[in-house]
Amino acid sequence: MELPFSESYKIKMVETIRRSTREEREKWIKEAYFNLFNLRSEYVFIDLLTDSGTGAMSDKQWSEMMLGDESYAGASSYLKMRQTIKDILGFPYFLPTHQGRAAENVLFSVLVKEGDIVPGNSHFDTTKGHIEFRKAKAIDCTINEAFDTTLIHPFKGNVDLNKLEKVLENNSNERVPFIVLTLTNNTAGGQPVSMKNIREVSQLAKKHAVSLLFDSARFAENAYFIKIREEGYSHKTIKEIVIEMFQYADYATMSSKKDAIVNMGGFIAFRDREIYRQASTFNIMFEGFVTYGGMSGRDMNALSQGLDEGTEFDYLETRVKQVEYLGNELIKYGIPIQQPIGGHAVFVNAKQLLPHVPREEFIAQTLGVELYLEAGIRGVEIGTLLADRDPVTRNNRYPELELLRLALPRRTYTNNHMDVVAAALKNVYDRRDSIQSGYKIKWEAPIMRHFTVELEKSKIKLF
Ligand code: F0G
Repeated sequence: MELPFSESYKIKMVETIRRSTREEREKWIKEAYFNLFNLRSEYVFIDLLTDSGTGAMSDKQWSEMMLGDESYAGASSYLKMRQTIKDILGFPYFLPTHQGRAAENVLFSVLVKEGDIVPGNSHFDTTKGHIEFRKAKAIDCTINEAFDTTLIHPFKGNVDLNKLEKVLENNSNERVPFIVLTLTNNTAGGQPVSMKNIREVSQLAKKHAVSLLFDSARFAENAYFIKIREEGYSHKTIKEIVIEMFQYADYATMSSKKDAIVNMGGFIAFRDREIYRQASTFNIMFEGFVTYGGMSGRDMNALSQGLDEGTEFDYLETRVKQVEYLGNELIKYGIPIQQPIGGHAVFVNAKQLLPHVPREEFIAQTLGVELYLEAGIRGVEIGTLLADRDPVTRNNRYPELELLRLALPRRTYTNNHMDVVAAALKNVYDRRDSIQSGYKIKWEAPIMRHFTVELEKSKIKLF
């Protein structure tokens, strides 16, 4: 008999989580103005809001914490991180930052100026934010296949080379500071980019004398998909694939809270010494001295160890297979999700799941609230609330897809938890005809409204 698949670790420490009653949840979510970000975490049973900084560190990472060198300058923890980044990613220079968006802030302070154009594959919100904040423009060149959730394509995160070439032809390279490749493509559903596409984007970049930046938050998951899905890579180790991927990048920004499996941290990696030097000044202003940049020595040690563990096949197989497990359970129940299933999260197609809720009433948010009410599970809306308003007309921007993202923290929940999530969503699905209305905005911030928005039911009715 073939042995079933199981996790590549055992559990050494546990954290208690508490179930709640539906009555409690009705009260709590109302007090939170129907915004899942406003809930106390103790009111959540299974927290799939994000996979960012929410994973479990290993015994080796915790022991590295004890060896941290907290010297202000020249700490051994800094030198260890420098060596790890050189060994695993192949970059000669790096700056530590406190998280991914801080890396963007420091690097873009050097590279991005007013009027610039930054093409890429579905820039993450903070990446786009840091571009637009500098009065530059982000242009999404993701392949069209990414927007059809039922279409099976092995690398839905890919860049459409024709779209990219058009942007590069229509703008002088003076105005394009870099192309950004988001690995994996979070917004499109945790979808990977193929090595072939990376290579072709790099060739286009070279042809137009433009630099290439990797937003590397989930680079190891991307490498796993290359190994599993791309011809010619099955015999290579993840570390070999990672080195090959990064040889095409001039810069990398990293949110270490994802594939370096730490709770907080980030960095920028450079090939060019001059840009590294210019960025160092901004790092000192915004983050900290160049040898710690917003991180403790112990955290840099855990990060180095995490980068090593995070690029091991067994770890990644366990990780991606758990996401796949949840996705397949949902498919079994007939629940519409983005396919193929992504690396860090399952993206539920809320428009299809709740066909009666009008789009003005925030369909994916309504689904998120229903899932919370059903079983205390917290996902995150990737829909109209997140898309925000048009800066000029102030009308809601209605995105093509209304998604509820269920992001899985690394090494944190078991597949029994996944069974609970799937059953809860099935229950919501079964009563979808009774969910006819959603929410309206009571208060919102002028930008990034989804974090703090306050909602009320669009129609007064009891739960
Ligand atoms: N790039 C990508 C692709 C991301 O997914 C994130 C964060 C960042 C950059 C910014 O990194 O949070 O360390 O400042 N994504 C989280 C998420 C917040 O839930 O997907 P950060």
